[in-house]
Amino acid sequence: MPDAFILGIESSCDETAAAVVRSGEKLISNVVASQIATHQPYGGVVPELASREHLRAIVPVVRQALAEAQHTYESVDAIAVTQGPGLAGALLVGISYAKALAFALDKPLIAVNHLEGHIHAVLLEERQKGNHDLRFPVLALVVSGGHTHLYLAAEKDNAWTYENIGHTRDDAAGEAFDKVAKLLGLGYPGGPVIDRLTPHGDAKAVKFAPAQIKHPDRRGRNDGRAVAFAADRPRFDFSYSGIKTAILRYVETHHMQSAVEARRQALVAIPKPKIEDYLANCDKLTLDLVASFQRAIVNDLVTRTLAAAEAYDVATIFVTGGVAANQELRQTFEREAAEQGLPVYFPSRPLSTDNAAMIAAAAYPKFLAKDFAAMDFSAEAGMILR
Ligand code: KG4
Ligand code: ZN
Repeated sequence: MPDAFILGIESSCDETAAAVVRSGEKLISNVVASQIATHQPYGGVVPELASREHLRAIVPVVRQALAEAQHTYESVDAIAVTQGPGLAGALLVGISYAKALAFALDKPLIAVNHLEGHIHAVLLEERQKGNHDLRFPVLALVVSGGHTHLYLAAEKDNAWTYENIGHTRDDAAGEAFDKVAKLLGLGYPGGPVIDRLTPHGDAKAVKFAPAQIKHPDRRGRNDGRAVAFAADRPRFDFSYSGIKTAILRYVETHHMQSAVEARRQALVAIPKPKIEDYLANCDKLTLDLVASFQRAIVNDLVTRTLAAAEAYDVATIFVTGGVAANQELRQTFEREAAEQGLPVYFPSRPLSTDNAAMIAAAAYPKFLAKDFAAMDFSAEAGMILR
């Protein structure tokens, strides 16, 4: 099989990204234009602004990805694009451009699920390291700003299938990082800041009650449509809205509101705050709270994932998505999975958060299977992975 160079395009949320990947195993170029500065003043992603920024960035980002890969529009073998899940307007920008390119260049077009992309970021990473030996069953934790999912992944004749065995009942883990950072006046996005502040606080200072999931949930409703889960399969769901409320209450009972407001104002006045700026504006109470919060989330993610790994007797664990960039999450997974004798793989940090290389990598088995998209496919904001 000759090499196939796939141009990937990703625009599902607040990053406009394009990449060229060779045969699902070699990153040739990877360009990500972040919109963080645009959304920062609002403390979260504003969908209308996201679409507008994607429109502005998509052509130069794709051009740059091709130039860095020393490719031309004509020299790539296929064009892959994120179909969903994500913001409908944002997805449409990438899809429309990918369709236009595929049509004009007469190249195959491949539609990719964003969550499948996150999973294939791990495979791309391992193949780049020369690790082609993957033991199944694989359990993948996809943990980002919009998602906290556990999937059993299987592959047969270049067709990957996924079974969801757990999802969040409310907030995603990354969403909890972002909301907690916001309510502590630490700005947006919260994950990277909390990650860097945690070593400066006492993670044992504040105790949080573990999330209780009382009722069995046999139907996932993440997409607005109901999906039935197999009744005889154990589920490992997550819940992160309780801890956010607990922190809100802690801030109130410890009279931290004026300190939070002062910090918020001080930090917005600094264009790109550094760790020293955050530390200069955080007291011990806040640093301890942040460290305790992160410890609670990390322990919960690791405990539930390893319980699922045991129940389904998996051979390998993948951890991917924006939150997989977290230092403590990586270390805890590595330590605890080793105790169970399980290998755990992560993408490198740039491939953990949203990027297009993962879309191009996930498209490769579909390219081999000639699983191409029809020109009339559209964005699916609540797309399910199966
Ligand atoms: O995968 P991603 O880039 O976008 C989505 O598909 O959602 O993930 C973004 C999320 C944000 O919630 C961000 O706060 C979180 O990932 N994140 C982190 C870290 N870096 C990004 N969370 C914890 N620790 C980090 N180092
Ligand atoms: Zn993502």
